[in-house]
Amino acid sequence: MTNAVKRIGVLTSGGDAPGMNAAIRAVVRSAIYRGIDCVGIRRGFNGLINGDFVRLDENSVNHIINRGGTMLYTARSEEFRTVDGQQRAAATCKLLGLDGIVGIGGDGTFRGLKEFSKQGISVVGVPATIDNDIVCTDYTIGYDTAANTAVEAIDRLRDTMQSHERCSVVEVMGRNAGHLALYVGLAAGATSVLVPEKKLDFEHDVIDCIRGARLSGKTHYMIIVAEGAGSAIEIGKQIHETIGLDPRVTILGHIQRGGTPTARDRVMATRMGYHAVKVLAEGGTNRLICSQQGSMVDIDLEEGLAMKKGLNAQQYEVLQAMTGLEIEGL
Ligand code: F6P
Repeated sequence: MTNAVKRIGVLTSGGDAPGMNAAIRAVVRSAIYRGIDCVGIRRGFNGLINGDFVRLDENSVNHIINRGGTMLYTARSEEFRTVDGQQRAAATCKLLGLDGIVGIGGDGTFRGLKEFSKQGISVVGVPATIDNDIVCTDYTIGYDTAANTAVEAIDRLRDTMQSHERCSVVEVMGRNAGHLALYVGLAAGATSVLVPEKKLDFEHDVIDCIRGARLSGKTHYMIIVAEGAGSAIEIGKQIHETIGLDPRVTILGHIQRGGTPTARDRVMATRMGYHAVKVLAEGGTNRLICSQQGSMVDIDLEEGLAMKKGLNAQQYEVLQAMTGLEIEGL
């Protein structure tokens, strides 16, 4: 195989997500397969600015497919938002002889890549965030593991809530999006799921659901709150003030970001990493790797970032049937 691309860099940026290591491994192995040298950039875009790198050969990515976190560390770089930071990063690429960069992360990472491409470096983004909020792709690396971690924790909570006949309010991550909370709520059999995409009607979305559950014979209740929909602590207080229950509040927090990636995350990360290198090797730039209806495709980075993603309407419809919530307003 011959190609003009001789050396590429790979970095992880933004919040870590289980499966990032599998994606790094796939990038390195796919590059070597194509005769391309691969350099790991550490600590996100800060590493590009500071020349913080590590040579990556086939062996350096042994035994990481099963590990959470990212072997390259990650960061959110304020400096990279500036033209000066981007120019310094471009100088690092020039010095190291990097023809392209694979950036693994979320929308902040992709905005950084888009700006950086103006420096004449080829860039490809690989979506990895537990939030699954990247519009153009059906899937982001880390989502499945985070959902399973949350569901496992909630199953444990359910045991104690059932024994005490209590109400539990659980806050699930997701930043401004409710995809993770909705999915987790469906899997955990929640009494109600509050998402930022739907304006909160407390009486209808919480109290009516608890009341309906009680009338159907239940004596414990599980309210899932997406972090972007409001504070679980406040929701718990409001439940207490309105109907006198004494809810226990659990904020799952960063637990959801760690742990061994599921098979789904490993396979998606491997396929996405492979596709990213293929795109760069074939001369592509400013591309975002997306999973669309089971196929791996790449689309223009700017176009991808401009799209708007709503909640999965079918999933919400099913939730409505399970909890009595109405679908209107989505
Ligand atoms: O984007 C991933 C995410 O875990 C969000 O769900 C959450 O809002 C945010 O990152 C937390 O960021 P940090 O790790 O900086 O606290």
